[in-house]
Amino acid sequence: MLKNRPVKIGRNDPCPCGSGKKYKHCCMNTDRSKQTDIKTLYTRKFNIRLKDAKDIEQIRACGRLVVETLDLLEAHIRPGITTETLNTLTNEFAETHGIIPAPLNYKGFPKSLCTSVNEVICHGIPGNQVLKDGDIINVDITHIYNGYYADASKTFFVGAPGPDAKKIVSVAARCLQAGMGMLKPGNTIGDIGWAIQQYAEKQGCSVVREFVGHGVGFEFHEPPQVPHYGKKSEGIVLVPGMVFTVEPMINLGRPDLYVASDGWTAITRDRSLSAQFEQTFVITEDGFESLTPYEL
Ligand code: MF3
Ligand code: CO
Ligand code: CO
Repeated sequence: MLKNRPVKIGRNDPCPCGSGKKYKHCCMNTDRSKQTDIKTLYTRKFNIRLKDAKDIEQIRACGRLVVETLDLLEAHIRPGITTETLNTLTNEFAETHGIIPAPLNYKGFPKSLCTSVNEVICHGIPGNQVLKDGDIINVDITHIYNGYYADASKTFFVGAPGPDAKKIVSVAARCLQAGMGMLKPGNTIGDIGWAIQQYAEKQGCSVVREFVGHGVGFEFHEPPQVPHYGKKSEGIVLVPGMVFTVEPMINLGRPDLYVASDGWTAITRDRSLSAQFEQTFVITEDGFESLTPYEL
């Protein structure tokens, strides 16, 4: 929950208002009424809509249902099931819980979740594909609940994983953790991407550039964009009330991709394995909270 207190930022840190000046030379000495101006400033300057405590409670409620759906699907993932089964389970869960699945009909997407198997990076469309022993599958769920959006994904093993599957899933999970390590007021969007890229490349893996994390909550995709690569202290300064996803897509081989003729399915050009973990986060006054929390 967001408390209505001034942001705790070091005097020599970049000012959270985004002026580029040091905090002590800018907003450090402003009063409470000026602090609330950050909301106006972020809307005007970046088109970022900061969320208040009530918004966050609603996104958290939606996020709980997203994580419940991921747990439900995990319990059904095994060799022999089709990705269509996961779509059916998602629709049934949605109907019984008052959820609208956000992907369905989003820019023409035909199903209620994305299922991305092996060399598929993201936006795989559920269908008649049968999961087999040794596959990995990313399941990406975005729900709309009481008008609010939450977005999260996980990559699962199907049966027993081989060494490559183990490696890429582990690196992708640790990449999300590396990004989470940067989530606090005063850090920047660039810090998040930098931390992820450092870890991924040190492990000999690569970061997908074409898809990024995003603001979320009032809509499916809001500003800002959150790249999973980047430079330290570049980009927008994180402030309390920012809600966005971090969702690194990490390839075992090269970062390049192509999109299949269905217009959605993104596949590694070198056909190497790709894995992804995604959560929705809110920046709090002293760090962050995951609104779609699960163990990594
Ligand atoms: N859930 C994806 C994301 O993390 C977006 C999927 S768009 C869809 O941003 F249309 F493919 F569902
Ligand atoms: Co997302
Ligand atoms: Co998603």
